[in-house]
Amino acid sequence: MCAARGLCCPLWTMMLGILFTWLLPQLADSVIISLQPKDNITILIKPGVVIPPPTNCYICSAKSICKSTNLEIRPGMTVDYSFACSTPEKFYVMEIQRRIDCNTGLCPFGKVQLEPPGLTGLNRTFFWHVETAQNMGIELNFSTPWLSQIDPSYKCPDSVTYKVNTTVGRSSINVGTFCRSGTVSRIKVQGGGVVALNLPWNETLTGSGFSIANRSSIKRLCIIESTFQSQSDAILMSADYPVGFPNDDLMTWQFVIPVDHSASVEFLNYTFPSCERKTERVEYYLPNYNYNPEVLALDNKQPANIAGNFNLSLQNCDLDSQKQQGLTLLFKVTVQKTPTQGSKIYNIDLTKEKDITVTIMQRPKPKFARQFVPICKICKAQMDCDQEFTMTGGKFYRISFLCHDLNVLMATAVKTIACWNLKACNINNEPLSTPPSLLFLPIQLEIIWNLLAPKHISTEIASSSMKLHQLVSNNATDEDFFYSIVSSDNKSNFQIGTFRPVGPIKKVQLRDNVTITLILQSNRNLSHLPKMDLHISFVSRIEEECIITVVPAPDSTVTLQTPNWEKGLPDSVSVSWNIAMPAKQFGKLAFAKDKMDIMCDTGRAFINIKEQKSTGPDIVLKDYDTLPSSINLFYPFWLNISNCKPKFLSNKLQIQFSVMFTQTKSDLTTILIAACSAIAAVILIIGVAVYCVRKKKKEKKAPVGIYNTKPNTELSKRQRLQRKGRKNKESHVYAVIDDTMVYGHLLKDTSSLASPDANVDVYQPFQGPMGEAPPVPPLNRISKDKVDDDPLASSMRLNEFYSFNKSELNEPIEHEDTSLDMVDQQENGPVLMA
Ligand SMILES: *[C@@H]1O[C@H](CO)[C@@H](O)[C@H](O)[C@H]1NC(C)=O
Ligand SMILES: *[C@@H]1O[C@H](CO)[C@@H](O)[C@H](O)[C@H]1NC(C)=O
Ligand SMILES: *[C@@H]1O[C@H](CO)[C@@H](O)[C@H](O)[C@H]1NC(C)=O
Ligand SMILES: *[C@@H]1O[C@H](CO)[C@@H](O)[C@H](O)[C@H]1NC(C)=O
Ligand SMILES: *[C@@H]1O[C@H](CO)[C@@H](O)[C@H](O)[C@H]1NC(C)=O
Ligand SMILES: *[C@@H]1O[C@H](CO)[C@@H](O)[C@H](O)[C@H]1NC(C)=O
Ligand SMILES: *[C@@H]1O[C@H](CO)[C@@H](O)[C@H](O)[C@H]1NC(C)=O
Ligand SMILES: *[C@@H]1O[C@H](CO)[C@@H](O)[C@H](O)[C@H]1NC(C)=O
Ligand SMILES: *[C@@H]1O[C@H](CO)[C@@H](O)[C@H](O)[C@H]1NC(C)=O
Ligand SMILES: *[C@@H]1O[C@H](CO)[C@@H](O)[C@H](O)[C@H]1NC(C)=O
Ligand SMILES: *[C@@H]1O[C@H](CO)[C@@H](O)[C@H](O)[C@H]1NC(C)=O
Ligand SMILES: *[C@@H]1O[C@H](CO)[C@@H](O)[C@H](O)[C@H]1NC(C)=O
Repeated sequence: MCAARGLCCPLWTMMLGILFTWLLPQLADSVIISLQPKDNITILIKPGVVIPPPTNCYICSAKSICKSTNLEIRPGMTVDYSFACSTPEKFYVMEIQRRIDCNTGLCPFGKVQLEPPGLTGLNRTFFWHVETAQNMGIELNFSTPWLSQIDPSYKCPDSVTYKVNTTVGRSSINVGTFCRSGTVSRIKVQGGGVVALNLPWNETLTGSGFSIANRSSIKRLCIIESTFQSQSDAILMSADYPVGFPNDDLMTWQFVIPVDHSASVEFLNYTFPSCERKTERVEYYLPNYNYNPEVLALDNKQPANIAGNFNLSLQNCDLDSQKQQGLTLLFKVTVQKTPTQGSKIYNIDLTKEKDITVTIMQRPKPKFARQFVPICKICKAQMDCDQEFTMTGGKFYRISFLCHDLNVLMATAVKTIACWNLKACNINNEPLSTPPSLLFLPIQLEIIWNLLAPKHISTEIASSSMKLHQLVSNNATDEDFFYSIVSSDNKSNFQIGTFRPVGPIKKVQLRDNVTITLILQSNRNLSHLPKMDLHISFVSRIEEECIITVVPAPDSTVTLQTPNWEKGLPDSVSVSWNIAMPAKQFGKLAFAKDKMDIMCDTGRAFINIKEQKSTGPDIVLKDYDTLPSSINLFYPFWLNISNCKPKFLSNKLQIQFSVMFTQTKSDLTTILIAACSAIAAVILIIGVAVYCVRKKKKEKKAPVGIYNTKPNTELSKRQRLQRKGRKNKESHVYAVIDDTMVYGHLLKDTSSLASPDANVDVYQPFQGPMGEAPPVPPLNRISKDKVDDDPLASSMRLNEFYSFNKSELNEPIEHEDTSLDMVDQQENGPVLMA
């Protein structure tokens, strides 16, 4: 080659250089190709189809002159050629056709060479035309790393492409188009075939990458062997995809699956042919299966969880030649380690449940391109697996998982409890139960109770033994078990909070529809699960968005926060906490921030703290106030937080507060120090403190809690019965209360709220130790008066940051004569004593 170049090229350049220097910046190397007659190889160098060669890019051979058309090199020829331009690869391609005659004994079985060797510089396509008798099969054995199939219109990433054709009668059928690296290890065709290998101009491949072996008849169009060595997946297509599988033909895929692995087949794309006779179908031979061959239609669910080698055949029908529609099939085979849970069967007993739907499905997952993603399926029988599975109440299910990582699955059980008429539905203290068999599923479990009721019915969620603990700052993700409570009217949802078991929250009352979601993470420890004793009742409408009853343990600290924490308390929403006081203790209330951090556009945001006795302090803090560092409270109290309509959307009302309960000291000075925060109020506070000390002393004699003493509960029961007798009209509100679930406070006056027509704007002073109705927030009072500067508000502004408001200014509204009972059982019922 070099010698030829040395002789010829400079001469040539000198001849033409004078005329065409500007056209010929550089002359490419010349190449000598010599073909032996016995090799049966023909080479064609021709312009590529992409860009036609420019006028200065000729092929020049030593003998002839330069030309811009084809250069053909036939067996027995030796040709020395070069290009008149430096980048011929942009304009010319090379085709190397080789005939391999396997009809005679000359068939060169074994490795197929890339001949002639050393060709580079142009895009090349090697064609091997293997000729055999119609009834003889040939096997193309590809060397590792084998091949992967692509849609013929796609390109291989490294531009090295194999196309395999076979002949049927007189026509050539494309068996598939492949790239390097995959699972396709062997292809068998019958009656001859063509392998075409496309190489880009700069690729220096040394071997063809396959060998040929002879085979007896395979009795079908082709067999494609796909060998899996580890967890992976493969996409495969029917022959002549996407044109259409040949008429009445048959092809087979053989799958080699490693031990401890199993395969799943999924048909991603197919078209039904227009058939004249017979029907198209697929046939499986599955390992350890009694019903081979398993014959299925294209739109049937295809088998999964196949533990071992198997084969799949596609049979076409007699096509209707009048119609265009052909048979095509594109499918995916996924092979993954046989899951350890693979054999475990879970019995899901929903026979005793009604109105429940359990759906098991994939959790949303991030997508990784070109990376093996193990599949995860739920199986009814061994091979009847699906990505999603739904179970309904009243039935019994046996399921298993075909899944490597059960963390990608979750089960959602939805139960709807509705009450359209309080009397008729009679849902009171109904437990929110979970079918126990669901708890044993090793996956994340979400149980959703939708509580639906019309506008005039509200909901109450109570817990007597477990009680709830509010997760503050929304750190629910760390928990393996928590409840989320969401209130919704038709327009919007708002999250009351996330709660986990065992805390001070005894009851949550909600005005609107409620969704309670219990989330059990997949790593839950069933022996840690507390007894779930949430009970729900439908009650008459409450006016507050939400009332939370908190019964703290002695010497505990309770931390609570406003609902809808992330987005902030919605506009103009008011929430109340009814916080009990452990016997002989006082509570030190502190806010997490010293500002409400909100600018109101309309209305005012308020925090209202009111001890549940008529003479107790009524502290009102407004949006612009500085929140006190702490407030000591000696009686059960109401804490109400109401939002205004903020000026800016980004303005979120988020208030977190804690109450630390400790033993009251009989020492007067301690109480004084604790209670005092402003010198101006000293006299008033001394008055209050002295009063408190007196009260505490009395309590020492006869400590009476609100929930924690038996006599108290029993008295309440009695009282309830009396009341029932007296106020028959409201008996439906109480008659169904479970005797073990009696709350003394329920007996307090609820009559004004029991009726949906109750006038909420009438200020209801506190009437007992655990009054049902929260004090009406100042927001409501003000909105009624339509003035911001009501006397109460202005008095507050004058008195530093909060004022002590004597609630006896408001006439207590007595609805019935319960005073005697109250005096007997509740020593700290100052309203009635006053
Ligand atoms: C050579 O192949 C590359 C892709 O590998 C293609 O972009 C280019 O157009 C081809 N050249 C010709 C002349 O066809
Ligand atoms: C080359 O082609 C001739 C004529 O078709 C044939 O007889 C011969 O067997 C072929 N040689 C090989 C090696 O295939
Ligand atoms: C396929 O070819 C490889 C070498 O290229 C060889 O090791 C292997 O045994 C062959 N397989 C079959 C089934 O002939
Ligand atoms: C392979 O078959 C397809 C039709 O399926 C045809 O278009 C193509 O030219 C054939 N290739 C060869 C090398 O015969
Ligand atoms: C061939 O050239 C292309 C750019 O034209 C480059 O991306 C590719 O890596 C090269 N291939 C080889 C084998 O050098
Ligand atoms: C295949 O080739 C082997 C030799 O490589 C030969 O013994 C055998 O008879 C051939 N089989 C057929 C079906 O041609
Ligand atoms: C399935 O076929 C349709 C229509 O031919 C095509 O648009 C779609 O991309 C194909 N899907 C896959 C996964 O190949
Ligand atoms: C498919 O598998 C069955 C059972 O293993 C076997 O009898 C049959 O020959 C296989 N068919 C093909 C085409 O591989
Ligand atoms: C929430 O969790 C994070 C990380 O687990 C922790 O750093 C942070 O202190 C927690 N916040 C609260 C309020 O518990
Ligand atoms: C609760 O849901 C029911 C049914 O969707 C609806 O009719 C009712 O109005 C909802 N209640 C509220 C307060 O939005
Ligand atoms: C909620 O929507 C339902 C119908 O979807 C309607 O009957 C009901 O009156 C609506 N309730 C409210 C409070 O808007
Ligand atoms: C579950 O909790 C029990 C009791 O605390 C403990 O003995 C057991 O090891 C835990 N199991 C797991 C899987 O953590």
